[in-house]
Amino acid sequence: MGSSRSDSQSSSLISSLFSIVGLLAGAAVVADGSREPEVPCYFIFGDSLFDPGNNNNLNTTMKANYPPYGVDFPSGVATGRYSNGRTTADIIGELLGFESFIPPFASAPNNSEILVGVNYASGSAGLLLETGKFMVN
Ligand SMILES: *[C@@H]1O[C@H](CO)[C@@H](O)[C@H](O)[C@H]1NC(C)=O
Ligand SMILES: *[C@@H]1O[C@H](CO)[C@@H](O)[C@H](O)[C@H]1NC(C)=O
Repeated sequence: MGSSRSDSQSSSLISSLFSIVGLLAGAAVVADGSREPEVPCYFIFGDSLFDPGNNNNLNTTMKANYPPYGVDFPSGVATGRYSNGRTTADIIGELLGFESFIPPFASAPNNSEILVGVNYASGSAGLLLETGKFMVN
């Protein structure tokens, strides 16, 4: 009895591992850039977790456009992302098959870029009116 339970647990573990490998292989096929993106457009809303630099020219202390932010970003520049490299939103965009990063709203994307997607995420954004109030310069 005990040994059959353990057999079923290990076969379930093995099938889980195969599922994970399958997901990674599927992502690799999409990310190689040889296909159209999986979706026609990608619009991003959020706070500092997804902000690609929308706060850089805003009147706020909530900024990330200086080193060491961005040390692991392609070209090693601090773009305003609150991370050393890409954000989760960037990685999701790559997995969906987008060849370049979705532009921040603050960079005033042109009409053809807007049709592909815009990133509106802003550090210290929140649902309440008072969210981020103490970050104003
Ligand atoms: C919009 O911007 C992108 C990226 O900078 C550029 O490749 C494209 O030619 C521009 N399109 C127009 C219509 O200006
Ligand atoms: C930034 O915001 C503060 C508080 O609202 C204001 O007093 C200040 O004039 C603003 N600075 C600029 C450059 O807009």
